[in-house]
Amino acid sequence: MQLVTLDEFIAVNQEKHAGATGELSGLLRDISLASKLVQRDLSKAGLVDTILGDTEKTNIQGEEVKKLDEFANRILIKCLQNSGDCCGIASEEEDDFVCFENRLNAKYVVLFDPLDGSSNIDVIAPVGTIFSIFRRVSALGKPCISEDFLQTGDKQIAAGYVIYGSSTMLVYTTGQGVNGFTLDPSIGEFCLSHPDIKTPQGVKSYSANQGNYNTFIDGVKKFIDFCQDSTDKRAYSLRYIGSMVADFHRNLLKGGIYLYPATTDAPKGKLRLMYECNPMAFLQEQAGGKATSGDARILDIHPVTLHQRTPVFIGSSDLVDKVLHFME
Ligand code: AHG
Ligand code: MN
Ligand code: MN
Repeated sequence: MQLVTLDEFIAVNQEKHAGATGELSGLLRDISLASKLVQRDLSKAGLVDTILGDTEKTNIQGEEVKKLDEFANRILIKCLQNSGDCCGIASEEEDDFVCFENRLNAKYVVLFDPLDGSSNIDVIAPVGTIFSIFRRVSALGKPCISEDFLQTGDKQIAAGYVIYGSSTMLVYTTGQGVNGFTLDPSIGEFCLSHPDIKTPQGVKSYSANQGNYNTFIDGVKKFIDFCQDSTDKRAYSLRYIGSMVADFHRNLLKGGIYLYPATTDAPKGKLRLMYECNPMAFLQEQAGGKATSGDARILDIHPVTLHQRTPVFIGSSDLVDKVLHFME
């Protein structure tokens, strides 16, 4: 098999775009560098006291901040600010967006969940980093503004994630399909391993925190009941680890649906539109699947605040249609 590194792949794709200046490519390289640094420390998690455990702080969303949440957040900010192609960032771990005052001429903003599935760090289960890139709408040369970040998901220029699992993989899209790259630790390079990913249909698999069943709306309960109905050997497999990246990755490759509906405790759902749902929805649609909140296509939702949450149903299009049918 011919070896194609992420850098080579990005360079070839950039050449295909007339007028491309290389800034977007630079950003993707910065994110891949940051992810290698996170991966390096994650791989030592059981050995090093500074990686495992809590910081004793909570973030703006009231969640416990793990040491690795903070570490990954700092690394991403540093790599993106160093590069010069990004004028500002918004992160799940920051109260507000951060403007890079020394990068006022950069065209792009990046939003990210630096460490997704952080409750799984301490038990060495897969975790991830999720990112979403928009072109700024404000004038170059000025500090970025909230409108640069609060754009609908269909305006994303690129999005992707890194999954730190039994191996480390970076999966991204720029709107021309989805490609996956596996980190070869012996050379420190992400290499193309999953070209043009398409999510299969007809797969009987779902991912949900079913412990919340009693708090779901009727339509979602009916869908889960349907999945569990063993008449005609129809029962579906349930696969759920509690890291969106890991659950999503499995369904992206093998087919299935991930759902985090509204619950009575979390009437707007739990997952964040800007850091989790938008980037995953862009990837999922590019892989031939669908993503909805139940009321609207995820990529059409107009964000009002950076940290807003949304219910999400995402995966193979036949299964997303099925859950929508039960919710009608
Ligand atoms: P984060 O670690 O970034 O806060 O995200 C956790 C999210 C998501 O990754 C996961 O799918 C979901 O929370 C799990 O929630 P439950 O524990 O309620 O199932
Ligand atoms: Mn997350
Ligand atoms: Mn997180």
